[in-house]
Amino acid sequence: MTSTQPPASAAMSQDELKTLVGQAALSFIVPGEIVGVGSGSTVNKFIAALASMKDQIRGAVSSSLASTERLRALGIQVFDSNEVDRLSVYIDGADEIDHQGHMIKGGGAALTREKIVAALSSKFVCIVDESKLVQTLGKFPLPVEIIPMARRRITQQFEALGGRVQVRLKGGQPLVTDNGQIILDVSGLQIADPRAFELEISQWPGVVTVGVFAFQKAQVCLLGTASGVKTMTF
Ligand code: 5RP
Repeated sequence: MTSTQPPASAAMSQDELKTLVGQAALSFIVPGEIVGVGSGSTVNKFIAALASMKDQIRGAVSSSLASTERLRALGIQVFDSNEVDRLSVYIDGADEIDHQGHMIKGGGAALTREKIVAALSSKFVCIVDESKLVQTLGKFPLPVEIIPMARRRITQQFEALGGRVQVRLKGGQPLVTDNGQIILDVSGLQIADPRAFELEISQWPGVVTVGVFAFQKAQVCLLGTASGVKTMTF
């Protein structure tokens, strides 16, 4: 199902579309509750907008050290995920989302914590600009967080599926995640059945988290378009 809110200007930049969906996500906040907060540049817009409601929420559970810092800087209390039983809503971006709400995530290397907080949440509200909407997942290189000892074997396994694998670097060295592990970015995949794919890859020894979110898919997508914020529900 899709509905559209008031039109945005046709000349809006990607950054402005991110601001628009970040603000639109405020309408999903349940007053008096703790909010699940994701990571990335779109979520940063949401966090900035959340400041206007900070007295109406108990606080947040965050999916990255970077988001935690931003939330705290605004005076929003950040709870450990083990302190909560359930979150009513989780707001996060994505690198790709399909028309069923399946996503690729992890462009910001926070996929493991994002999947954990999404699993705690009753509703995943995905905030993206329209460039992220795809028919089939896989154009964006798939992030996979792995234990370094398994790098060679997992690389071979992806190559057998037709993937091309790169270790994500930062400053010329393998990027180290918030969890002390590394990220492989796998290009050249066409993920026709996201659930089956997530299930299979998650079982490979050494895989911490695969960046396909099919079991923790979005229930709502707020899509920033030149004609306004479209709300897709799945
Ligand atoms: C971080 C993520 C982000 O949600 C994803 O990369 C989208 O980021 P952005 O809003 O900056 O485009 O999964 O791990």
